Amino acid sequence: MIQCRLKDIQKHYVENDFDVLKVPLNIDFEKLKRDAFEIIQAVDLKEKDTHGEKYKGIGLQYEDESNPLYDAIDQFTFIPGEGEPRVYRKSKFITKKNEYGEKLDYLFEALQPLNAFRGRILNAAPGIKMHPHTDGKYVLNIHIPLQSDPDCIMNVNGTPYYFEPDGSLYVLNARRVHHITNDSQKDRIHIIFTLNFFSFRQWPKETIDSIIEEMKIPEQRERIYKYYGLTP
Ligand SMILES: [Fe+2]
Repeated sequence: MIQCRLKDIQKHYVENDFDVLKVPLNIDFEKLKRDAFEIIQAVDLKEKDTHGEKYKGIGLQYEDESNPLYDAIDQFTFIPGEGEPRVYRKSKFITKKNEYGEKLDYLFEALQPLNAFRGRILNAAPGIKMHPHTDGKYVLNIHIPLQSDPDCIMNVNGTPYYFEPDGSLYVLNARRVHHITNDSQKDRIHIIFTLNFFSFRQWPKETIDSIIEEMKIPEQRERIYKYYGLTP
Protein backbone atom coordinates (compact mmCIF):
# COMPACT_ATOMS: atom_id res chain seq x y z
CA MET A 1 0.00 0.00 0.00
CA ILE A 2 1.49 3.32 -1.11
CA GLN A 3 0.73 6.47 0.91
CA CYS A 4 0.31 9.56 -1.22
CA ARG A 5 -1.65 12.80 -1.71
CA LEU A 6 -4.74 13.34 -3.83
CA LYS A 7 -2.73 15.21 -6.45
CA ASP A 8 -0.34 12.24 -6.91
CA ILE A 9 -3.04 9.78 -7.98
CA GLN A 10 -2.77 10.74 -11.65
CA LYS A 11 0.97 10.01 -11.68
CA HIS A 12 0.38 6.55 -10.20
CA TYR A 13 -2.48 5.98 -12.66
CA VAL A 14 -0.09 6.61 -15.55
CA GLU A 15 2.70 4.54 -14.07
CA ASN A 16 0.35 1.72 -13.02
CA ASP A 17 2.76 0.98 -10.18
CA PHE A 18 0.40 0.08 -7.34
CA ASP A 19 -2.27 -2.25 -5.99
CA VAL A 20 -3.65 0.25 -3.47
CA LEU A 21 -2.98 3.92 -2.67
CA LYS A 22 -3.83 5.37 0.73
CA VAL A 23 -4.67 9.07 0.69
CA PRO A 24 -5.61 11.35 3.60
CA LEU A 25 -9.06 12.88 3.17
CA ASN A 26 -9.53 16.46 4.29
CA ILE A 27 -12.99 16.11 5.73
CA ASP A 28 -15.08 15.89 8.92
CA PHE A 29 -15.06 12.09 8.97
CA GLU A 30 -17.48 11.74 11.91
CA LYS A 31 -20.03 13.87 10.05
CA LEU A 32 -19.53 11.82 6.87
CA LYS A 33 -20.20 8.60 8.80
CA ARG A 34 -23.29 10.09 10.47
CA ASP A 35 -24.69 11.36 7.17
CA ALA A 36 -23.98 8.15 5.26
CA PHE A 37 -25.54 5.94 7.96
CA GLU A 38 -28.58 8.19 7.98
CA ILE A 39 -28.90 7.66 4.22
CA ILE A 40 -28.63 3.88 4.32
CA GLN A 41 -31.16 3.71 7.14
CA ALA A 42 -33.61 5.88 5.20
CA VAL A 43 -33.58 3.98 1.89
CA ASP A 44 -33.92 0.47 0.52
CA LEU A 45 -30.53 -0.82 -0.52
CA LYS A 46 -30.60 -2.58 -3.87
CA GLU A 47 -28.88 -5.89 -4.54
CA LYS A 48 -25.84 -5.58 -6.76
CA ASP A 49 -24.30 -8.02 -9.23
CA THR A 50 -24.98 -11.64 -8.40
CA HIS A 51 -24.37 -11.58 -4.68
CA GLY A 52 -28.00 -11.27 -3.57
CA GLU A 53 -28.43 -10.10 -0.01
CA LYS A 54 -24.68 -9.97 0.53
CA TYR A 55 -23.92 -6.96 -1.66
CA LYS A 56 -26.31 -4.04 -1.68
CA GLY A 57 -26.20 -0.33 -2.16
CA ILE A 58 -27.64 3.07 -2.92
CA GLY A 59 -26.36 5.48 -5.57
CA LEU A 60 -25.15 9.03 -4.91
CA GLN A 61 -24.88 9.86 -8.63
CA TYR A 62 -26.86 8.90 -11.72
CA GLU A 63 -27.18 9.49 -15.42
CA ASP A 64 -30.47 7.72 -16.18
CA GLU A 65 -33.21 10.18 -15.20
CA SER A 66 -35.65 7.34 -14.62
CA ASN A 67 -33.38 5.69 -12.05
CA PRO A 68 -31.67 8.35 -9.90
CA LEU A 69 -31.27 6.16 -6.82
CA TYR A 70 -29.96 2.94 -8.33
CA ASP A 71 -28.40 3.81 -11.70
CA ALA A 72 -24.95 3.68 -10.10
CA ILE A 73 -25.76 0.28 -8.59
CA ASP A 74 -27.20 -1.28 -11.74
CA GLN A 75 -24.11 -0.66 -13.82
CA PHE A 76 -22.01 -3.77 -13.85
CA THR A 77 -18.63 -4.37 -15.37
CA PHE A 78 -17.28 -7.77 -14.57
CA ILE A 79 -14.38 -9.17 -16.52
CA PRO A 80 -13.54 -12.64 -15.24
CA GLY A 81 -9.78 -13.16 -15.30
CA GLU A 82 -8.60 -12.02 -18.69
CA GLY A 83 -11.64 -12.97 -20.77
CA GLU A 84 -14.37 -10.97 -22.40
CA PRO A 85 -16.67 -8.88 -20.24
CA ARG A 86 -19.62 -10.96 -19.13
CA VAL A 87 -21.80 -7.94 -18.69
CA TYR A 88 -20.62 -4.55 -19.78
CA ARG A 89 -22.34 -1.20 -19.99
CA LYS A 90 -20.20 1.25 -21.85
CA SER A 91 -20.92 4.63 -20.30
CA LYS A 92 -18.97 5.28 -17.13
CA PHE A 93 -19.98 8.92 -17.01
CA ILE A 94 -22.47 8.78 -14.19
CA THR A 95 -22.00 12.30 -12.92
CA LYS A 96 -25.23 13.90 -11.69
CA LYS A 97 -25.78 14.00 -7.96
CA ASN A 98 -29.07 12.65 -6.63
CA GLU A 99 -30.57 13.95 -3.37
CA TYR A 100 -28.13 11.84 -1.32
CA GLY A 101 -25.16 12.97 -3.39
CA GLU A 102 -26.27 16.54 -2.67
CA LYS A 103 -26.35 15.74 1.03
CA LEU A 104 -22.70 14.63 0.78
CA ASP A 105 -21.73 17.61 -1.39
CA TYR A 106 -18.77 18.37 0.89
CA LEU A 107 -17.31 14.96 0.03
CA PHE A 108 -17.35 15.78 -3.69
CA GLU A 109 -15.65 19.07 -2.78
CA ALA A 110 -12.94 17.23 -0.85
CA LEU A 111 -12.22 15.02 -3.88
CA GLN A 112 -11.46 17.99 -6.16
CA PRO A 113 -9.78 18.19 -8.63
CA LEU A 114 -10.68 14.55 -9.26
CA ASN A 115 -13.79 14.05 -11.34
CA ALA A 116 -15.28 11.07 -9.50
CA PHE A 117 -18.03 9.09 -11.23
CA ARG A 118 -20.78 6.74 -10.14
CA GLY A 119 -20.70 7.44 -6.40
CA ARG A 120 -22.50 4.87 -4.27
CA ILE A 121 -22.66 3.49 -0.73
CA LEU A 122 -22.20 -0.28 -0.72
CA ASN A 123 -22.68 -2.82 2.02
CA ALA A 124 -20.66 -6.04 1.65
CA ALA A 125 -22.25 -8.31 4.24
CA PRO A 126 -20.58 -11.03 6.32
CA GLY A 127 -19.80 -14.12 4.24
CA ILE A 128 -19.40 -12.42 0.87
CA LYS A 129 -16.68 -13.85 -1.33
CA MET A 130 -16.37 -12.36 -4.79
CA HIS A 131 -14.90 -14.02 -7.85
CA PRO A 132 -11.53 -12.60 -8.87
CA HIS A 133 -12.06 -10.15 -11.76
CA THR A 134 -10.88 -6.87 -13.23
CA ASP A 135 -12.94 -3.74 -13.93
CA GLY A 136 -11.30 -3.09 -17.29
CA LYS A 137 -8.29 -1.29 -18.63
CA TYR A 138 -8.91 2.25 -17.37
CA VAL A 139 -10.63 1.89 -14.04
CA LEU A 140 -9.57 2.75 -10.52
CA ASN A 141 -12.00 2.66 -7.61
CA ILE A 142 -12.01 5.07 -4.71
CA HIS A 143 -13.05 3.44 -1.44
CA ILE A 144 -13.88 5.42 1.67
CA PRO A 145 -14.47 2.82 4.38
CA LEU A 146 -17.01 3.88 7.01
CA GLN A 147 -17.31 0.60 8.87
CA SER A 148 -15.09 -2.44 8.45
CA ASP A 149 -13.09 -5.12 10.22
CA PRO A 150 -9.60 -6.56 9.75
CA ASP A 151 -11.34 -9.69 8.39
CA CYS A 152 -12.76 -7.63 5.47
CA ILE A 153 -10.13 -8.11 2.81
CA MET A 154 -9.49 -6.64 -0.60
CA ASN A 155 -7.33 -9.12 -2.42
CA VAL A 156 -5.28 -7.65 -5.30
CA ASN A 157 -3.16 -10.01 -7.39
CA GLY A 158 -3.00 -12.39 -4.43
CA THR A 159 -2.04 -9.74 -1.83
CA PRO A 160 -4.54 -9.08 0.99
CA TYR A 161 -5.30 -5.48 1.96
CA TYR A 162 -7.41 -4.16 4.81
CA PHE A 163 -8.97 -0.74 4.24
CA GLU A 164 -9.10 0.69 7.75
CA PRO A 165 -11.90 3.21 8.33
CA ASP A 166 -9.66 5.99 9.66
CA GLY A 167 -10.78 8.94 7.53
CA SER A 168 -8.55 7.99 4.59
CA LEU A 169 -9.55 7.16 1.09
CA TYR A 170 -8.10 4.17 -0.68
CA VAL A 171 -7.57 3.88 -4.41
CA LEU A 172 -7.90 0.35 -5.72
CA ASN A 173 -6.11 -0.41 -8.98
CA ALA A 174 -9.14 -2.19 -10.45
CA ARG A 175 -7.22 -2.91 -13.66
CA ARG A 176 -5.56 -5.69 -11.65
CA VAL A 177 -7.33 -8.90 -10.67
CA HIS A 178 -9.09 -8.33 -7.38
CA HIS A 179 -11.90 -9.58 -5.18
CA ILE A 180 -13.35 -8.89 -1.76
CA THR A 181 -14.13 -11.19 1.12
CA ASN A 182 -15.83 -10.44 4.40
CA ASP A 183 -15.08 -13.13 6.98
CA SER A 184 -16.13 -10.92 9.90
CA GLN A 185 -19.50 -10.68 11.65
CA LYS A 186 -19.88 -7.03 10.64
CA ASP A 187 -21.26 -5.28 7.58
CA ARG A 188 -18.49 -3.69 5.54
CA ILE A 189 -19.80 -0.28 4.52
CA HIS A 190 -17.84 1.79 2.01
CA ILE A 191 -18.52 4.84 -0.10
CA ILE A 192 -17.17 4.00 -3.56
CA PHE A 193 -16.50 6.03 -6.69
CA THR A 194 -15.19 5.05 -10.08
CA LEU A 195 -12.22 6.87 -11.54
CA ASN A 196 -11.30 6.47 -15.16
CA PHE A 197 -9.07 8.34 -17.58
CA PHE A 198 -11.48 11.29 -17.64
CA SER A 199 -11.39 11.72 -13.88
CA PHE A 200 -8.11 13.60 -14.26
CA ARG A 201 -7.83 17.23 -15.25
CA GLN A 202 -4.53 17.40 -17.08
CA TRP A 203 -3.89 15.55 -20.30
CA PRO A 204 -2.54 16.68 -23.66
CA LYS A 205 -5.29 16.88 -26.32
CA GLU A 206 -3.68 14.10 -28.39
CA THR A 207 -3.84 11.76 -25.40
CA ILE A 208 -7.52 12.58 -24.86
CA ASP A 209 -8.27 11.90 -28.54
CA SER A 210 -6.44 8.61 -28.58
CA ILE A 211 -8.26 7.39 -25.46
CA ILE A 212 -11.67 8.38 -26.93
CA GLU A 213 -10.71 6.25 -29.92
CA GLU A 214 -9.45 3.35 -27.86
CA MET A 215 -12.47 3.35 -25.54
CA LYS A 216 -14.74 3.60 -28.60
CA ILE A 217 -16.74 6.49 -27.17
CA PRO A 218 -16.89 9.06 -30.02
CA GLU A 219 -20.43 9.94 -28.92
CA GLN A 220 -18.89 11.32 -25.71
CA ARG A 221 -16.36 13.52 -27.48
CA GLU A 222 -18.38 16.72 -27.25
CA ARG A 223 -18.98 16.29 -23.56
CA ILE A 224 -15.35 15.43 -22.86
CA TYR A 225 -14.05 18.39 -24.87
CA LYS A 226 -16.37 20.68 -22.95
CA TYR A 227 -15.05 19.33 -19.66
CA TYR A 228 -11.46 19.99 -20.71
CA GLY A 229 -12.29 23.38 -22.29
CA LEU A 230 -11.13 22.15 -25.70
CA THR A 231 -12.43 23.26 -29.08
CA PRO A 232 -13.09 20.52 -31.66
FE1 LIG B 1 -14.18 -4.87 -9.10
